[in-house]
Amino acid sequence: MNEEQRLAAQDAVQTSNSKKQEKDYSKYFQTVYSPPSLKDAKKRGKEDVNYHKDFSIDPAFEGMGKGRKFYIRTYGCQMNEHDTEVMAGIFLQLGYEPTDTTEDADVILLNTCAIRENAENKVFGEIGHLKPLKLEKPDLLIGVCGCMSQEESVVNKILKTHQHIDMIFGTHNIHRLPNILNEAYLSKEMVVEVWSKEGDVIENLPKVRKGAIKGWVNIMYGCDKFCTYCIVPYTRGKERSRHPEDIIQEVRHLAAQGYQEITLLGQNVNAYGKDLQGMDYGLGQLMDELRKIDIPRIRFTTSHPRDFDDYLIEVLSKGGNLVEHIHLPVQHGSSEILKLMARKYSREQFLTLVNKIKKAIPNAVLTTDIIVGFPNETEEQFEETLSLYREVGFETAFTYIYSPREGTPAAKMKDNVPMEVKKERLQRLNNLVNEMSLQAMKKLEGQTMEVLVEGESRKNPEVLSGYTRTSKLVNFKAPKSVIGQRVMVKITEAKTWSLNGELVEAKEPAEVNG
Ligand code: SAH
Ligand code: SF4
Ligand code: F3S
Repeated sequence: MNEEQRLAAQDAVQTSNSKKQEKDYSKYFQTVYSPPSLKDAKKRGKEDVNYHKDFSIDPAFEGMGKGRKFYIRTYGCQMNEHDTEVMAGIFLQLGYEPTDTTEDADVILLNTCAIRENAENKVFGEIGHLKPLKLEKPDLLIGVCGCMSQEESVVNKILKTHQHIDMIFGTHNIHRLPNILNEAYLSKEMVVEVWSKEGDVIENLPKVRKGAIKGWVNIMYGCDKFCTYCIVPYTRGKERSRHPEDIIQEVRHLAAQGYQEITLLGQNVNAYGKDLQGMDYGLGQLMDELRKIDIPRIRFTTSHPRDFDDYLIEVLSKGGNLVEHIHLPVQHGSSEILKLMARKYSREQFLTLVNKIKKAIPNAVLTTDIIVGFPNETEEQFEETLSLYREVGFETAFTYIYSPREGTPAAKMKDNVPMEVKKERLQRLNNLVNEMSLQAMKKLEGQTMEVLVEGESRKNPEVLSGYTRTSKLVNFKAPKSVIGQRVMVKITEAKTWSLNGELVEAKEPAEVNG
């Protein structure tokens, strides 16, 4: 980073010391505190992203966590889950120990999600619940990070009404956790450090992965799609791709450690590489290199139909460790609504893409995300979602009622659809999702499938659970020694959301699709 960039970065940092005893907050905000701005977050700068390969913890902070414990509660998507793994890695390097109860913790972080209003309500509920604990243990530090911290209204609300929070930081500066903690220990005031603009790409951040079987690998950060309903481009900044060699090295490392499956992460993984200068390199090229690594399964999430190109389809059709499950959010079945959503494809274009995928990968399993009740959605338009769902033959879906997000274009649209109608539509859609899921599961009865065994079933410790390459949950009896392995299981009974089966073979299977 040169001097000019350093100063620019400093400008982007909004560190505030909000006096906890201060009564007149309004005066305070205007003079000292400037909140993260959704308007600034929307700007897509032309400046290059800098890559840093040299993350290290300032020696001044070493031992900060000695005798202290941390607890992180994570909301939202895999991106947040993975950020939590990084923050846990930083805590461990600082000498903190993990704990799984808030009562036992010296630092509590809430890694938040802003995607829908109910996600935010849950976090505010938790912030309220933590207040008595803070009063009991004044030395406890409580921090709010993740996507909600990037919203000015949230930061203002916490400053005004939740003064027991000690730190607020955003998604672009989790690598600054040691500095933020240090500041929080030194000052008796709320530390707010939220960057409205994305930072650089930082490699070699420490990580504590949640399991030893499946791992997440970020391939890019941010989103430039600006679907009109969505807050993510504001909370996660512009698209920045990691360099292929760094991704390949991380995957090789995971393979060497015995990981069985990796999921490549990005908000719109199909845009991978577009920002890499001087390179004609995309997700297809990356997958083609990764498939040569000796790791049994590789997935990616989330795909955007718009950028799903022919070369990627060609590479995926090579199979092997590239699984035949594609999660492809369509959001809606009506071209008019898709246009209002700024998805930049029509129903017909989506169907053409699906047909191309099915032709190249005949055993492909497709799943999706759908929003019902977008502003002014008519009954006919909603029925187009139902008919598209059937026509594609999706095997399952995440379904949501549209939730207006402040600062997004859709939030300004007038909406004539009453909530009861939206709820009723969601129910009808879910009935279809259930029906189609059971139908897809039934087809698997009698088949023998490869299952990656993850552990004991949640409901019955006598039974083990795992997933097929196509992400179907399978329960079966087997010795615990097969946990972490891929085994062959004969499916005996199909239910809507899971399969029951019998262990056929406990040794490493050959390449089998299913
Ligand atoms: N980047 C991914 C999805 C990110 S959010 C993609 O584009 O597919 C996950 C899902 O949440 C979205 O696919 C969408 O279905 C849903 N979602 C996003 N914003 C929403 C909103 N304002 N209201 C309801 N659902 C929303
Ligand atoms: Fe949101 Fe659209 Fe980006 Fe997905 S592609 S994160 S829905 S703006
Ligand atoms: Fe939520 Fe942020 Fe993920 S808004 S869905 S945690 S990118």
